[in-house]
Amino acid sequence: MNKRPEAPEKPYRVVQWATGAMGKTCLRAVIDHPDLELVGLYVHSDRKLGLDAGTIARRAATGVLATNSLEDILALEADVVLHCPLLQFPYEAHDREVCRLLESGKNVISINNYFHPRSISAAYATELEASCHRGGASLAGTGINPGLIAERFAAVASGLMLELESIRCREVYDCLEMPNANYVFDVLGMGLPPEQVDLVNGPLATMFTAMYRQCVGGLAERLEIPLTGIESDHQLVLAPRDIAARAGTVREGTVAATNWQLHGICDGRRVITHSVNWIMGRELPGYEDFTHWEIALRGKPGLDIRMDLVEPDEDGVKTTAAQYGVAGMVTQAIPHVVAAAPGLCEFPAAPHYRPRLREPTPDRKQQQ
Ligand SMILES: NC(=O)c1ccc[n+]([C@@H]2O[C@H](COP(=O)([O-])OP(=O)(O)OC[C@H]3O[C@@H](n4cnc5c(N)ncnc54)[C@H](OP(=O)(O)O)[C@@H]3O)[C@@H](O)[C@H]2O)c1
Repeated sequence: MNKRPEAPEKPYRVVQWATGAMGKTCLRAVIDHPDLELVGLYVHSDRKLGLDAGTIARRAATGVLATNSLEDILALEADVVLHCPLLQFPYEAHDREVCRLLESGKNVISINNYFHPRSISAAYATELEASCHRGGASLAGTGINPGLIAERFAAVASGLMLELESIRCREVYDCLEMPNANYVFDVLGMGLPPEQVDLVNGPLATMFTAMYRQCVGGLAERLEIPLTGIESDHQLVLAPRDIAARAGTVREGTVAATNWQLHGICDGRRVITHSVNWIMGRELPGYEDFTHWEIALRGKPGLDIRMDLVEPDEDGVKTTAAQYGVAGMVTQAIPHVVAAAPGLCEFPAAPHYRPRLREPTPDRKQQQ
């Protein structure tokens, strides 16, 4: 039985790192949570420098001003840093600042990496662990995928099986309405001519292989499946015509969907498959109808789980269910990461969660 982290006597002192869509949702969650105290804020954009965190989050003034100085953040007394910047190439681009944060004694929770670093390589995990030990701090990655779908949901679901044959997790995410052109075109690779995308050794393939290897490796380790390797089988779908997306136009013949797919091999066969599909609209062949996440376990018995997040029905709020979901994962991880022994912190498949209760909306109250 895992020990349940108790409500703290004093609030956890939190630094929010980056205030994009995910970071801002985490920032609001911190400001609004009685057990959390915002003590620092790092921003990348010049236009947010010096602003009060409350102004950025559309909340009352907090007295915490945004900085872009790592040194300012290192000098703070803080329990944990919520590290939510935009992914950068290469995948390890943020390691230097994360290691400095750890070495200054701050626990770090990332939504981009550090889900199961051993699955990238033993040497990589050892290096990160050394920084943790130098600062007496813990490092963890969490989020929905990576973080939840394979490593926790699929793992828990396998608990009803007498015999396991295979596990397949599939995500399909429609990027048509994503506003950030930098993220959609540069980070996700939409709109690239296919001849510029090396699906084995190119920067996109290398980054997403490293990211999703951790889902496969983390799940295999949890279920004690002795993998002999993890192999990639990435695919592209090209735009059949120009596609008008919120972030810009995806030209005909360029990348309109990516499928980053990894297989965990055991006894010469694909026992675990993790397949992440980002698409520019539902009109692409093969993506007309989909569930956001599917988990398929085969064996005795077989089990299919289909999962969609429910978008919030709050007036005038632009935050999406996925952003709330990631903020929920991150804030609920704080007590675990702060209580963990120094080193790489992994979450149990089913930790003790403690979501805050709220009243139903008037619509839902009527249905009860
Ligand atoms: N694990 C999961 O389930 C999960 C789910 C969704 C997303 N994610 C990850 O979350 C990351 C952030 O997503 P998002 O939707 O918040 O993105 P976003 O809205 O584009 O915001 C990213 C923020 O990163 C900062 N930033 C911009 N350029 C940067 C640079 N060159 N170096 C460092 N920081 C920079 C900026 O912060 P300021 O505005 O404060 O300056 C920006 O607002 C994504 O890269 C993705 O990998 C994880």
